[in-house]
Amino acid sequence: MTLRLAVLISGRGSNMRAIHQAVLDRKLDAAIALILSDKAEAAGLEYARSHGLNAEVVLKNSAETRTEYDQRLIQALENSRPQLIALAGFMRILSPAFIRHFEHRIVNIHPSLLPAFPGLHAQRQAIEAGVRFSGCTVHFVDEGCDSGPIIDQRAVPVKPEDDEATLSQRILQEEHRLYPACLQLFAENRIRLVGRKVRMV
Ligand code: GRF
Repeated sequence: MTLRLAVLISGRGSNMRAIHQAVLDRKLDAAIALILSDKAEAAGLEYARSHGLNAEVVLKNSAETRTEYDQRLIQALENSRPQLIALAGFMRILSPAFIRHFEHRIVNIHPSLLPAFPGLHAQRQAIEAGVRFSGCTVHFVDEGCDSGPIIDQRAVPVKPEDDEATLSQRILQEEHRLYPACLQLFAENRIRLVGRKVRMV
C-alpha cells in the first residue's frame, strides 16, 4: 500500500530529502502529499519546491493562541489527507488537541537513543554525559517531550575527540537510513502499538 505522507519541517530538511530520495529509489513505497513548514525561510522548502513537491508554509501570527494555530495546521494537513505525519526537524511543540486529532499517526526522529537526552541539543547532552554510544530514535509522538513509544533506533559510537558538530554529523548519516526504513514498515503495515510497546509483525 502506498503510504500518503506529510512531512513537517522547520529548517534544513535533510531528513525530508532522505525520505524523498528513498521514494525516488523505490525503497520507500510512499507518496509525499505535503511538505509543511512553520518557517518561511526553512532551507528545506527550496529543495521541496525545486523537486516538484507540494510545499506549504503555515506561519503562526502573534495574535493567535497555540491551539488556534494548531487548528490551522490540522486543516492544512487534512486537505492533503495524509495517513502518517512525519516530523523532520519540526521545532514546535504540538498541542494535545493536535496529537489527539492524529492519534498514533505522528512520528518523529530524535538524535539520541531515547529515553536518554530528550529535548534540545541531544548531541551536546550526550557529549557532556560522556556516553560511549549515542544514536537516533524514531518514535510515535505523544503529549510529552520525545517520550512516545519507540519504533526503532540505531546506535553510533561517540569518539573521545567528538564535538557537537562531528557527533551530529555521524548521527545524521544514520538518521537518513533509519527514518525511511521505519516509514517503509508503516507502508507495509507492519507496525503495531501494544500499550507503550511497538511490535513489528
Ligand atoms: C535532526 O537531527 C533530527 O533528529 C532532529 O532535528 C534535526 C533535523 O535535521 N529532530 P534536518 O532538518 O532533517 O536536516
